[in-house]
Amino acid sequence: MASPELSVIHNTRLDGLAQPVQVIAITGGKGGVGKTSVAVNLATALAARRRRVVLLDGDLGLANADVFLGLSPRYTLAHVLSGERTLDEIMVAAPQGFQLIPAAAGAADLAQMGPTEHLGLVQAFSALATRLDVLIVDTAAGLAHSVLQFSQAAQQVVIVICDEPASITDAYALVKVLSRNHGVQRFRVLANQIRTPGGGLELFQRFERVAARFLDVTLEYAGEIPEDDCLRRSVRGQRPVLDEFPSSAASRAFKKLAAHADTWPVAAGPRGNIEFFVERLVRRPAARPQVVR
Ligand SMILES: Nc1ncnc2c1ncn2[C@@H]1O[C@H](COP(=O)(O)OP(=O)(O)OP(=O)(O)O)[C@@H](O)[C@H]1O
Ligand SMILES: [Mg+2]
Repeated sequence: MASPELSVIHNTRLDGLAQPVQVIAITGGKGGVGKTSVAVNLATALAARRRRVVLLDGDLGLANADVFLGLSPRYTLAHVLSGERTLDEIMVAAPQGFQLIPAAAGAADLAQMGPTEHLGLVQAFSALATRLDVLIVDTAAGLAHSVLQFSQAAQQVVIVICDEPASITDAYALVKVLSRNHGVQRFRVLANQIRTPGGGLELFQRFERVAARFLDVTLEYAGEIPEDDCLRRSVRGQRPVLDEFPSSAASRAFKKLAAHADTWPVAAGPRGNIEFFVERLVRRPAARPQVVR
């Protein structure tokens, strides 16, 4: 059911609300698996495919998408929520042809926002929706509320895993909480830092065997990104690897991922609207405890 502030918006008619937007959350549970690297390079690769892309830095604690892009934003989403700035004023244009929404550090729990902030968020995103095909959300590590909220709100949830036991167990915990408490049943799994070609599929299958056995979820393999020193060097150089080393193995994999992501269905009707995204973003999670064993 729509929240009261959304009903207010229905009456004020905001054109952007009708536009279908693909919302992709990049998440994974464990820290350092490569979420921000994937988010930044997927944004770059989709922008190169002439998609109108906005990258939302959803890592509310350790926001660093701006650092990966060598940008120094002055304002963040927090200024939009407080009404001090508009979304247009805080968005930063990345030279790679997309826009960055810098994180609202400190607004760690979106569910605790009041009606005024909800309204601000819906208005901010609806104004944006007219000029946007894809919204990519880079999330924080762990099971923070913001991670769960961004994931439950997205149309596509990409779980980044790598071949480390902690990555698999943390990804499992995340999928478990999202499926049991947040109504997310479908996940795309991207294998990162893969050392041998084809190793990503093998890793995915290992993860899927456990998840399919114990959880009621559908997992789809999104492909693999190789372990590539060019990517590490590009992070140090504060540029996407696609920009810095366009013919590297990692860059080729990101182009392939973008071509694949371009085929992911965008929900038609209300489910594909940015309104729906914001509605789910601010929805409080189910009352069930989020204990993961
Ligand atoms: N495919 C790869 N090949 C080589 N190095 C990689 C690859 N992916 C990520 N890395 C390295 O891992 C580091 C951490 O990556 P990144 O910051 O993208 O992870 P993260 O999941 O966003 O971390 P956090 O949880 O802290 O936000 C990068 O700085 C980069 O050096
Ligand atoms: Mg990150």
